[in-house]
Amino acid sequence: MSGQARRQALEYTGVTPSRTGELARFFAALVDNGDEVFFHPHPLTHEQAVQQGQYQGRDFYCLQLFRDRISGYGMLRGWDEGFAVPSLGLAIHPRQRGRGLGRDLLLFLLAAARRRGAETVRLTVHRENHGAVRLYRSMGFLLQEKTPGVLEGFLVLQDGPGMPYRKNGARV
Ligand SMILES: CC(C)(COP(=O)(O)OP(=O)(O)OC[C@H]1O[C@@H](n2cnc3c(N)ncnc32)[C@H](O)[C@@H]1OP(=O)(O)O)[C@@H](O)C(=O)NCCC(=O)NCCS
Repeated sequence: MSGQARRQALEYTGVTPSRTGELARFFAALVDNGDEVFFHPHPLTHEQAVQQGQYQGRDFYCLQLFRDRISGYGMLRGWDEGFAVPSLGLAIHPRQRGRGLGRDLLLFLLAAARRRGAETVRLTVHRENHGAVRLYRSMGFLLQEKTPGVLEGFLVLQDGPGMPYRKNGARV
């Protein structure tokens, strides 16, 4: 399947209780792959997957589905705590990487942030997380060292052709 066809097969959805078991397996795959070093927004446990399925609040969590299976998990956090600038995080299933899904999920999250009124998005990334650093820089994030080994990045969001709002039934 070509990269474009793969991306056209993607859907986005919220984290529903019906996906809890699958999300727990997704978290376990990240842990098995050693990704917790770079991706630790919260514990990557079954209990946390259950909590995510029940979450109600202003922060935003989403699942990227490829052929109705979880291929990615993304979030915008900080609104619950009263920040105007949300912090973005994302992970793609280890078996699905290198095919453009991370970039698609990032674009989706940026569009979701804009739709929710954010003017700027923030993130932190480990300097050694080379793939993520490259992805964020390629999207225009300005990354600067915040603490030793950790970069902080900001992106000012703009409306317009560069900001895709998905129309194929996806909730942005
Ligand atoms: C970072 C991550 C989300 C990238 O997802 P992905 O689906 O593999 O990324 P894509 O295929 O969309 O690649 C997009 C861009 O990322 C960069 N990139 C991704 N993986 C890379 C790698 N292994 N080496 C170098 N660059 C890489 C490239 O710039 C690439 O663009 P290009 O293909 O035009 O060169 C994924 O590796 C991941 O989930 N990592 C574990 C969790 C994590 O670290 N999240 C970020 C925390 S801050």
